[in-house]
Amino acid sequence: MLKLAPSILAADFSKLAEEVQCVEQLGADYIHIDVMDGHFVPNITLGPGLIKCLRPHTSLPFDVHLMIENPDLFIQDFKEAGADIITVHVEACRHLHRTLQLIKQNGMACGVVLNPHTPLEMIKHVLHEVDWVLIMSVNPGFGGQTFIPEALNKIAILNEWRKKLELSFLIEVDGGVNEQTARLCEEAGADVVVAGSAVFNAPNRRVAIEQIKG
Ligand code: DX5
Ligand code: ZN
Repeated sequence: MLKLAPSILAADFSKLAEEVQCVEQLGADYIHIDVMDGHFVPNITLGPGLIKCLRPHTSLPFDVHLMIENPDLFIQDFKEAGADIITVHVEACRHLHRTLQLIKQNGMACGVVLNPHTPLEMIKHVLHEVDWVLIMSVNPGFGGQTFIPEALNKIAILNEWRKKLELSFLIEVDGGVNEQTARLCEEAGADVVVAGSAVFNAPNRRVAIEQIKG
């Protein structure tokens, strides 16, 4: 069974506390929080202040997906706000290894994210350092986009590498995940899927969450 991290990007921002409590009660495993800075991606969302306000309202781990430039400047702020897992884009990190160390030194799990066009080779030499690898199955910036099928090849190859290297990082997939694409991700070797619109816009969130997890 897949683990599910609903993305609050698709939730009602005017009542986020209720929204996270709702998906927690319905079986979500993590809360996925999309942080966008208007530079790395063409959209702006939220920052540590909001995460701090949300922290007391759920006991689920916060999976914080940083789509920002210079993430090193903010790692400590996200820790203080209550982040449990921080994932950074390989495309945004000039010194990726250093950034991953910084996340770990701050007591959080660390993950690396790849855009759809970025080859897996870019992270080969840090795989032994990461707790999570996040494969983008859309171009980051917006919810509600269509799943890019080539992501499945990437997941399968990464899963092979993981076995061969005897590593235990989790493989997470983000973008365009619904009941159908979740099954394809699972077959390819994913452990965790992110779903925004397929959860928060579903007519019945309980059914959506059950079906995505499988
Ligand atoms: C896109 C974000 C995703 C987004 C997914 O940049 O990283 O987490 O919220 O939304 P859906 O599930 O609607 O594609
Ligand atoms: Zn995301």
